[in-house]
Amino acid sequence: MQDIIKLEGVCKAYGDHQVLKDLDLSIRKGECFTMLGPSGCGKTVTIRLIAGHEVPDSGKIEIDDTVVADSSTGAYIPPERRGLGIVFQDYAVWPHMTVTQNIAYPLKMEKRPKAEIDKLVKAMIATVGMEGLDKRLPSELSGGQQQRVALARALVADPSVMLLDEPLSNLDANLREEMRFEIKALQQRFGITVLYVTHDQEVALAISDRIAIMDANGRIRQTGTPYEIFEKPADLFVFKFMGIANFLAVRSEGDKYYVGTGTQEVPWPEGPAGTAEKWVVGFRPSDVEIGREAKGLKGVIKRANFLGSTMDYAIEIDGEHLRTELVAHKAISQDLMFQEGEECYITFKALHWFDAKQLEEVGEL
Ligand SMILES: Nc1ncnc2c1ncn2[C@@H]1O[C@H](COP(=O)(O)OP(=O)(O)OP(=O)(O)O)[C@@H](O)[C@H]1O
Ligand SMILES: [Mg+2]
Repeated sequence: MQDIIKLEGVCKAYGDHQVLKDLDLSIRKGECFTMLGPSGCGKTVTIRLIAGHEVPDSGKIEIDDTVVADSSTGAYIPPERRGLGIVFQDYAVWPHMTVTQNIAYPLKMEKRPKAEIDKLVKAMIATVGMEGLDKRLPSELSGGQQQRVALARALVADPSVMLLDEPLSNLDANLREEMRFEIKALQQRFGITVLYVTHDQEVALAISDRIAIMDANGRIRQTGTPYEIFEKPADLFVFKFMGIANFLAVRSEGDKYYVGTGTQEVPWPEGPAGTAEKWVVGFRPSDVEIGREAKGLKGVIKRANFLGSTMDYAIEIDGEHLRTELVAHKAISQDLMFQEGEECYITFKALHWFDAKQLEEVGEL
């Protein structure tokens, strides 16, 4: 498939803070591509570079086969000529303009005829479900409605590429969920390429064709489909970043693997690829089975919390700790309501193996 946005060897520093170093990125025409990474990792800087509000210290940026910035030749095309629709992180709708005026703004900049502007704005107001609110000022709208205005303004000039920087950050959980489906629907309906930037894993999994995971140093750790990122994480950072997980320290002796400092050897679903003496196995709460039958790893319930629909257990296994949840009605019907201090057995449906050396880089788990 054809790449519509291409970054090659892009570097950007502020003072002596190197935010991006040799960043390569290709976004395919028509896809919804998400950049996911922790706060301060350089996501907004990347968006600003693509939009043309910043210039790279070195490297090249292409949009639709046109070089829009190249440090080696000094080539630079200004933002308004890059053909992008943008929703910035603070979504900045013009406070002194009505909904209609806000959405019409990009078309006015393009000096389109008034009749055409009226028609397009009206259609866009309907698309984002803002009928009847068209004469209001942003101060008379909710955060979610302002967000829709910002989206409509970005969409109205029919851009082939949309850059969306945390466009749902100020919405409550319900509206966020609703809006992410709307963005996805708009993207598919208009066949737009979307570059979506967020630190919210759930949103990224829900809307993306592909995801790039960026670490705190502005380096991309993995690019892949949501399934690849979730099920085949390239490293410990990616696995940890993709949501709630448990980790156990495992040491290898010969071809055997033992948990913590103990002597329990386990029939793991699969062993690691590669060799190391110290490993970290990662798994999600849904990958763990807990039982009373002597099968798998023996542990002790350190804490048992009844959370209504689930039981939350903290378990110690040979000096290592994990937490898991069990649906409460299953716990009751299958005699799995454990008390603190009771023994239990743990088996795994899935595991991810990481060389423990990666811990130094990722820090505390
Ligand atoms: N104009 C600037 N001058 C100096 N430093 C800057 C500037 N813009 C960004 N930075 C720094 O660059 C780093 C990356 O910033 P950026 O805004 O891209 O982070 P982000 O990934 O978008 O984070 P968040 O998820 O919090 O929005 C930060 O450390 C930030 O302080
Ligand atoms: Mg940002």
